[in-house]
Amino acid sequence: TLLRGRTLSFLRWPESVDDHAAYAYEEDGAILVANGKIVASGPYAQVAARAGSSARVIDHRPHLLMPGFIDAHVHVPQMQIIASYGAELLDWLNTYTFPEESTFENAQHGRRISRLFLDEMIRHGTTTVAAYCSVHKQSAEAFFAEAYDRDMLVIAGKVMMDRNALEAVHDTPQSSYDDTKALIAAWHGKGRGLYAITPRFAITSTPEQMEMAQALAREHPDLHVQTHLSENHAEIAFTQQLYPWAKDYTHVYEHYGLMGSKTLLGHCIHLSEREADVLSDTGSVAVFCPTSNLFLGSGLFDYQRFRRREKPLRISTATDVGGGTNYSMLRTMDEAYKVIALQGEKLNPFQSFWQITRGNAEALSVVDRVGTLEAGTDADIVVLDSASTPSMRLRSERIKTLAEELFLMQTLGDDRTVKEVYVAGKPAKSDLVVSNS
Ligand code: GUN
Ligand code: FE
Repeated sequence: TLLRGRTLSFLRWPESVDDHAAYAYEEDGAILVANGKIVASGPYAQVAARAGSSARVIDHRPHLLMPGFIDAHVHVPQMQIIASYGAELLDWLNTYTFPEESTFENAQHGRRISRLFLDEMIRHGTTTVAAYCSVHKQSAEAFFAEAYDRDMLVIAGKVMMDRNALEAVHDTPQSSYDDTKALIAAWHGKGRGLYAITPRFAITSTPEQMEMAQALAREHPDLHVQTHLSENHAEIAFTQQLYPWAKDYTHVYEHYGLMGSKTLLGHCIHLSEREADVLSDTGSVAVFCPTSNLFLGSGLFDYQRFRRREKPLRISTATDVGGGTNYSMLRTMDEAYKVIALQGEKLNPFQSFWQITRGNAEALSVVDRVGTLEAGTDADIVVLDSASTPSMRLRSERIKTLAEELFLMQTLGDDRTVKEVYVAGKPAKSDLVVSNS
């Protein structure tokens, strides 16, 4: 299949809007797709010649084709508590989150929500997620099964949590180890699924469970580890109380051998210089969740400080639904822009779109598979319409450059901006059966 349209993909971080060598843009471009992979991309004439006259052409002109968006941190069992009023992190967890996650004991419920979750991701143009399931093994089984059926590249794990939550969402050090082992054996590398060892955060694990997470990470050094770090002041103080020997919050994860280039650390808002150095030295990834950080009043992630410091951090961006308030990576980057602006800095539109495609793929160590339009990678593609609403159409009339068009989509766009999504080369958004069941 030959997808025709304007094509945009990134080759590296764009230093400025004039850094044209950082991206590949074709006004009349095409992507040749076969067997779920990108065979070639570039100018239409060139790619069409390669495809031959028998190739089926899907003409998306004048829309923009880009790699599918990547969400680096999101909670599947929080779909029904998004938009829960009036709490900071620890109260929000106790009041809304833990009771809600307890309902995932029911495997049918887990399967239904996983289905609706991936539907919603697709509708918003997100083709890869790093996801937290509930404490229940069956919630992760349901999620991986659903992703497998759709041939989606997902990174996910059941949360390990054995204290400081509801009894109903506690596991034990041994059961968390056993369940994680069984899930790795069943789902890691099955289809496009990748398992992430997922201790929820330091507060909800005993030292015994942290040791189990350490054992798992040591036994599976190729796997991702995902957790939360330094989101909120009360959380940091409680962590310090639970681990009195620790130099700081990051030291807890360091101590249990959980830092590394496949480690994804949600939030990282209140890091000291020492902690930021540890993230940098270990190649661990700081995950910026702007809508969540604003909604829960957690603080402002210092993107530009982290990027520019002598020891820079690897950064990804994410929705953190249901602490986050929108499934869209466009809406997420709009809020990211504002969080960065509040700190007197800027993130230009090329940098934003780099971040939610190639940047997040690099941060998740999957850039050899997704996040670009390079030949040999998986054909996960979004089709974007920058005039998808009346207000966008009107604003479009004044637009002269690609940078302005991207910034318009980021600032006013949402699921309506996403006209089509291809997952492993197959139309996925137009294929959705719209239902609430
Ligand atoms: N810290 C521990 N668990 C969570 C969670 O579910 N959401 C957020 N935002 N922070 C957390
Ligand atoms: Fe989170």
